[in-house]
This record gives sequence, C-alpha cells and structure tokens, in this order.
Amino acid sequence: MNRVEIINGPNLNLLGTREPEIYGNQSFEDYLVGLKMRFTGVEIGYSQSNVEGEIVNLLQAAAQAEGCVGIVLNAAAYTHTSIAIADAIKAIHIPVVLVHVSNVYAREVERKTDLLVSSARGLICGLGLNGYELAVRALLC
Ligand code: DQA
Repeated sequence: MNRVEIINGPNLNLLGTREPEIYGNQSFEDYLVGLKMRFTGVEIGYSQSNVEGEIVNLLQAAAQAEGCVGIVLNAAAYTHTSIAIADAIKAIHIPVVLVHVSNVYAREVERKTDLLVSSARGLICGLGLNGYELAVRALLC
C-alpha cells in the first residue's frame, strides 16, 4: 500500500493549546484520526520532534520506507533557520510538501524567511490544519 509520512517539527506537539488564536483548538492527534478516515487506501504515518537532527533522521527514514510516495513536513520554526533540513530535503529522492498552519507571510518579518521551500515540491500555508489534507492529496496526484 502507498504510504505518506507526516513529520511535524518543534512545538507542534502542543497544537490545540498553543496560541489557539493562531493555531486553533484542535490537537494534531485528534485531527489525524479524521484525516486517516478520509484516506482509506493509503497508509499515513506520523511523527513529531522538537529536535532539528531528529527531523533530518525522520526525513531520511521516511524516504527509505517501503511504499512511501512522499512526505508532508511542517518544520515549524526550523523552516526559518535550518540548512540541515534543507539539505536533507535535497538529499532524499521523494517529494516533500511543506505545510504551515498559519499564514507565515502575514506574521512577523522573521517568518518570511523560508530556507526549505526552494528544495520542496510545494508549500501550503495559512489554511489551518486542513493544509495537511491538501498536502497529502497533492502527493497522491
Ligand atoms: C508554523 C509557523 C512557524 O513560523 C512557527 O515557528 C511554527 C508553526 C505554522 O504551522 O504555522 O511553529 O510552522
């Protein structure tokens, strides 16, 4: 069966309680239950890490997982700083679609720097948790 891996970066384990006026009230675990129900023909893997190097490890592992057709990555704050994650996206041979829950381009100036997007297949930004579903769909096209 085809597989899509979702990887979330730092502080996204706190979705639902973290700055709900920006990120909403739903935990990612709750959202994931509904997401999996909408994609019965595909396996959806999920991991989260607050550690930059661990996200590199997760990207490499996902790219080697059997049947994995792509990765949905919300690198959170590492989006704006991480050359290591950008290099990992370039090094692996499956597409990576980036997601941001919030519209980073409508926020603080430092969030407008994106070190990852030029290495990725595409970017979905500012559409809330629904962005993850759109990213999975894009990878399955
Ligand atoms: C985020 C946006 C980032 O700027 C921020 O550091 C996050 C979450 C988002 O999903 O909107 O942690 O990636």
